[in-house]
Amino acid sequence: MEKINWGIIGLGNIAHKFAQDLALVKGAELVAVASRSKSKSKEFASKYSVNKAYSSYADLASDSNVQAVYIATPHSFHKEHSILCLKHRKAVLCEKPFAINAKEVDEMIKVAKENNVLLMEALWTYFLPHYTYLLDVVKNQYLGSLLKLKADFGFKATNDLESRFLKKEIGGGSLLDIGIYPVFAALSTLGEPESIKANATFYGTGADAECNMVFNYQNASAILKSTFLKETDSLAIFTFQEGVVQMNTRFHQPTSLTISKNNTTVTEYIPYKGYGYYYEILHFNQLLREDKKESEIMSFQFSKTLIKTLDKLRSLIGLEY
Ligand SMILES: NC(=O)c1ccc[n+]([C@@H]2O[C@H](COP(=O)([O-])OP(=O)(O)OC[C@H]3O[C@@H](n4cnc5c(N)ncnc54)[C@H](OP(=O)(O)O)[C@@H]3O)[C@@H](O)[C@H]2O)c1
Repeated sequence: MEKINWGIIGLGNIAHKFAQDLALVKGAELVAVASRSKSKSKEFASKYSVNKAYSSYADLASDSNVQAVYIATPHSFHKEHSILCLKHRKAVLCEKPFAINAKEVDEMIKVAKENNVLLMEALWTYFLPHYTYLLDVVKNQYLGSLLKLKADFGFKATNDLESRFLKKEIGGGSLLDIGIYPVFAALSTLGEPESIKANATFYGTGADAECNMVFNYQNASAILKSTFLKETDSLAIFTFQEGVVQMNTRFHQPTSLTISKNNTTVTEYIPYKGYGYYYEILHFNQLLREDKKESEIMSFQFSKTLIKTLDKLRSLIGLEY
């Protein structure tokens, strides 16, 4: 198996978890990391036994030993940092949300195509074992048609106005950060809605603190919520004609499923590796080895629909980036 050499740009919270899961994947090695700070980069590199520690993102992008780059900077930098790497012919796995709006996502896809390199949004939930199980139930109608989805994601965020969560200028707010998961759950199971309703409350910074959404379909509906104001159940409850599948808390990460059918209820514990990022990395490596430029699961079309839906929601609640 051909080994794939990885780099990471932006060494914050998620970069650490990703590095740990990458270490579990056979045939992949983290060979370079880049931070704006030399000391942070060196510390990260020494913690995960990485050969190269850069203090400039551009230096990592031009390292000829790196084949794939994971972009782990705040949302508002995803386009810039992805394009930097794509122009150096690096395959790019970019954190969610793919970018701040649909226009930016279109630009990223255009550059990936021009340079003939692989690009994928790191929406890890799509690749998790419990989610794959659910998608199978939906696709094969094991419980009949899906009629209703209720999904939420909420936690009490910091009050620090300097935090990524609250800073509007770097894409802060609950919708793009965590609301993306309930929205993803609706789009991946029910498709694009016929109509959407939404309302939100805001921090003084202008970032949304909470967003309530209703997606209407011809024969189904989805009630979705994101909030930084309180811990919520963070469940996804899928009601089918003949039963209910509940993704237990927190539904977007590896978890169990409680399935109710014919007056019986069972909880399935589905094994997983690492934090769960393992599965998107495995998929991405496979795409690279097969010389593919796009994922058939997290496709460009799906990423475009996702960001267009988030744009639509933002226009409904009056949130502009
Ligand atoms: N898939 C998931 O489960 C998951 C979970 C959490 C976050 N995320 C996504 O990952 C991205 C990063 O989130 P995070 O929680 O890791 O954020 P974080 O802890 O704030 O780290 C972001 C990193 O980006 C770099 N950066 C570059 N310019 C920056 C700026 N102007 N302000 C702040 N940081 C800047 C910094 O790295 P250097 O200082 O090293 O340059 C910083 O450490 C977000 O887009 C988020 O949506 C995904």
